Amino acid sequence: MRLAAVGDLHFHVGKRGHLRPHLAKLEERASALLLAGDLTCHGTTAEAEVLAEELRGVKVPVVAVLGNHDYDAGKEGEIRRLFQDVGVVVLEGESFVLDLEGKRLGVVGVKGFGGGFKGACASDFGEPEMKAFIRTTRRVSESLGERLAGLQAECDRRVALLHYSPIPGTLVGERLEIYPFLGSYLLGDAVERGGCDLVIHGHSHRGTKKGNIGEVPVLNVAQPLIGEPFATFTLG
Ligand SMILES: [Fe+2]
Ligand SMILES: [Fe+2]
Repeated sequence: MRLAAVGDLHFHVGKRGHLRPHLAKLEERASALLLAGDLTCHGTTAEAEVLAEELRGVKVPVVAVLGNHDYDAGKEGEIRRLFQDVGVVVLEGESFVLDLEGKRLGVVGVKGFGGGFKGACASDFGEPEMKAFIRTTRRVSESLGERLAGLQAECDRRVALLHYSPIPGTLVGERLEIYPFLGSYLLGDAVERGGCDLVIHGHSHRGTKKGNIGEVPVLNVAQPLIGEPFATFTLG
């Protein structure tokens, strides 16, 4: 399966027309496009409308998760509907199965959240605010693991589509001090429990393109990192 993926497009009204020319013949290069969150700069509907228009009529299925920037204005529900109106499948703790090239590709999409990585992570302890923080990550990670496991029987390949990183390996290049805001080991543990063939994430603009969870490749497709309109790769 040939896939295209990109995160952190960070669209705003000044970017109108920036992406569309690159999507014109996308179907010749990929069978689906995955968007790994931070679709907008400040989470406004005006920004989301501009990107939604760029994506209207793209000839391959488009599956997306939102990122932290897309929540900033409290309009995430409206943003989700704007993208759904142009045919984009927006996932949050849900799965979607695509029929691609005669195979079934299951995509589980969660934004994820922070907390850090083993040995230097937040824990479910102390103030209610800290408990709420890590319990949010735990809840979304559990849903990721359960959904991945639930797709095993019906899909030929499974992809975890995230915004936050499940491993520190794709964050190398970022300041160590901000790792707890860039991802969580709980997401990585969920990938191991649920099982999948590929993990896609964004959020880390200065990180590293490739890492792994055991045998499973993890790709950081944040656009400022990959430096191209989208990354393409073959799965399976
Ligand atoms: Fe971003
Ligand atoms: Fe982000």
